[in-house]
Amino acid sequence: MTKIRKAVIPAAGFGTRFLPATKAIPKEMLPIVDTPTLQYVVEEAVNSGITEILIILGKNKKCIEDHFDISVELEQILMRAGKDDYLKKIRDISQMAHIYYVRQKEMNGSGMAVLEAETFVGNEPFAVLYGDDIIYNPQKPCLKQLIDAFDTTGKIILGCQEVPKEEASKYGIVKPGAIKGKYAEVINLVEKPPIDKLPSTLASIGRYILTPDVFDVLKHTPAMPNGEVCLTDAIQTIADSTGAYAYTFDGRRYDVGDKLGYIQATIEYGLRDENLRDGLTNYLKNLKF
Ligand code: G1P
Repeated sequence: MTKIRKAVIPAAGFGTRFLPATKAIPKEMLPIVDTPTLQYVVEEAVNSGITEILIILGKNKKCIEDHFDISVELEQILMRAGKDDYLKKIRDISQMAHIYYVRQKEMNGSGMAVLEAETFVGNEPFAVLYGDDIIYNPQKPCLKQLIDAFDTTGKIILGCQEVPKEEASKYGIVKPGAIKGKYAEVINLVEKPPIDKLPSTLASIGRYILTPDVFDVLKHTPAMPNGEVCLTDAIQTIADSTGAYAYTFDGRRYDVGDKLGYIQATIEYGLRDENLRDGLTNYLKNLKF
């Protein structure tokens, strides 16, 4: 089985739900405590064995490149000031992985964003991670669980979790076939079905292991009425031909593309930080609002 080394992270969206904060700052750079959301996603990939990462950028995203680049001036200032902790953090960011960028000119859907990765990916299986989902699992990163599932099945893998029925219409929902433990055969993947037509409550959560045939499929996938080509439709075509599995991963997942999910992530990551835990706990216990 080919080792999965490459990951693609689409980050071209406008971040409309976080305006005005995202007028000049990419939503991927909004911090959870002190770390941009995108860095959590890159760290998950790196901790899963990924060494090459392609970030799909759009307009106004230059600071993403700066964030993962070396900052000689800042390093010198920190060195002179003896701030070794910060110096290490800053250096680590620029040494995590080989990070490449491509700029998507038109905002025409998740499928077209992934198609930008064709040359980068070549002829290998690869991972796709959406930046709106942050998954906390210090034992085994979500992506590593999916890579292992791919090694087991040899089929494309959708990272999934059960969601409450009333929230299911926000997701790509799996119609499962045979279910064995954490694996469910994908019969159908329906993008944002209405609540009265849910095939299940097993939702696809922004993590995929795909094979390079997805690029040809994407080129032949018709656009939706809004002009966008959806990755979900291409995955459905592959599920129909060579098969796909939904894998229910372990981990606490935050929808940081949503304001409430973003605030929950901020509080819980704050509570995990030993320098903040006591002060934040105290504050939350005594909060009267
Ligand atoms: C995208 C996908 C959807 C998936 C979701 C997970 O939707 O199209 O299938 O369930 O991410 O976060 P979006 O949230 O970008 O509308």
